[in-house]
Amino acid sequence: MSIALHVNVDHVATLRQARGTAYPDPIEAALAAERAGAEGITVHLREDRRHIQDRDVRVLREVVRGVMNLEMAATEPMLRVALATRPHHVTLVPERREERTTEGGLDVVGQRAGLVDIVKSLQSAQIKVSLFVAPDRAQLEASRALGVEQIELHTGEYAEAFGHHAAALAALADGARFALSLGLRVAAGHGLTVANVGHVAALAEVVELNIGHALIADAVIVGIDAAVRAMRGAIAHGRRGR
Ligand code: PXP
Repeated sequence: MSIALHVNVDHVATLRQARGTAYPDPIEAALAAERAGAEGITVHLREDRRHIQDRDVRVLREVVRGVMNLEMAATEPMLRVALATRPHHVTLVPERREERTTEGGLDVVGQRAGLVDIVKSLQSAQIKVSLFVAPDRAQLEASRALGVEQIELHTGEYAEAFGHHAAALAALADGARFALSLGLRVAAGHGLTVANVGHVAALAEVVELNIGHALIADAVIVGIDAAVRAMRGAIAHGRRGR
């Protein structure tokens, strides 16, 4: 099965917000990423609005041709944004204000009660729901019980361990197999780079990758087009080599 690349353009907005200018524009970056072959665009509207702004989400929803995936915390205010903008997918992520990035997976087991209504409201609006979780069987079972369409496996531990990653990769492989056996669509992301993406792309169950920071960092040097093409090349290489 083929694998979709969703480019996360949050950090184009990080650069813009650093100076409060109108540039660089994450919308322009998203369109360039799609022209280079990305199947989808991902943004994380954080509660503190440190990078992506509400207007970015609204405009992206209008102009993105492929899949638009909105990452957000499972809260009422964010639910209102999602219902107003209606992205194709919503990925529910844990969010702590002091963190630099999304540090762990969602605790679906512990937070089931708070997630049920939000998942139902999104699904009633025909928005597909994905949960960002660690490759942990209990979390995957709880995700299945909530009735979501997809889970996104948190690849952060694997990425950090890269070079000594056998255990972390085995956990991802087990999580991907188990999730698919439960009937869940399997995405993955966080911390992926041209160097480390191959092993994740080689997992047959994974059909979508969400990649942001390293790809945008590469784009600063070589441009979005070349950065997306290089990432696609690394993904295809990993997929073929499995
Ligand atoms: N997937 C999810 C659910 C995320 O929260 C993030 C970070 O916003 C990513 C993927 C992308 O991670 P990175 O920016 O490290 O590629």
